[in-house]
Amino acid sequence: MIGVFDSGYGGLTVLRALLRDLPDRSFRYFGDHALAPYGNRSAEEIHALTRAAVERLFGLGCRLVVVACNTAAATSLRRLQQTWLPAYHPDRRVLGVLVPVVEAITGVAWMAPPPARHPGPGGRTVAVFATRQTVLSNAYPIEIGKRAPDVTVVQQACPTLVDLIESGQPVERIRHAVEDYVDQLMGRLPSGRPDVAVLGCTHYPLIADLFAEALPSGVEVLSQPDLVARSLSAYLLRHPELDRRDAAPQVGFLTSGDPVQVSRRSTAFLGCRVDFRHASGYPSNASAVSS
Ligand code: DGL
Repeated sequence: MIGVFDSGYGGLTVLRALLRDLPDRSFRYFGDHALAPYGNRSAEEIHALTRAAVERLFGLGCRLVVVACNTAAATSLRRLQQTWLPAYHPDRRVLGVLVPVVEAITGVAWMAPPPARHPGPGGRTVAVFATRQTVLSNAYPIEIGKRAPDVTVVQQACPTLVDLIESGQPVERIRHAVEDYVDQLMGRLPSGRPDVAVLGCTHYPLIADLFAEALPSGVEVLSQPDLVARSLSAYLLRHPELDRRDAAPQVGFLTSGDPVQVSRRSTAFLGCRVDFRHASGYPSNASAVSS
């Protein structure tokens, strides 16, 4: 059984791709809807929440957890992998969602030595739209820069988008916010337009059409969920000990929020019926939790 974690709805975009590419695996999804969004929280808070969520999925029997949240992965994945896992869960693994995107942009495998390329004019420009904490972490520019110094990475924090999506705001309101963030980014680009756009928050594929409409035509929008699914499939081939194929695969959904509301919205996002259960240990009245 594979765990998938996000602060809220965003990880469903990754889960959808995983279910498509790995139909014979069982999954448990945990969305921390009561405490979303994470993107405007402090790095320490995000780390503590991410560790608790991964621990919960381990407790359900997952030996491998995908942190399907750029904010959580950019802020705390390395720390979890380097110190927490070896100390407390040496036989389990936690993966994030940035690595497959960085590999796709640079064409360089994560663990490969950086190629002897020299920065020069004419490299591609990559626009990264993400939460405030993901932008502050500089994870995308740093990791892309190590492998492809000729690529220019321009980041745009979109601090209102996750909240607008989580709270189910009307599409026109979200459209205006997206247009505003795209305009802000374009105003900072020397060439006036990016070559490639990364929706560096797993909530944003839920509104990918709004980004595509706001960006100039011809800008390639990378699909992070597709890249993550391909990468996880390859990882499982290399690490068969972490998860078994299931003759009767099951998908279970847990939320720290209101399961009725979360199930209704998730069903609309995914286009198939989704039934969330309330995760124990969280107040059952989600609105009582302030974020
Ligand atoms: N889906 C999360 C991400 O990829 C959203 C973070 C948030 O809750 O702000 O960054």
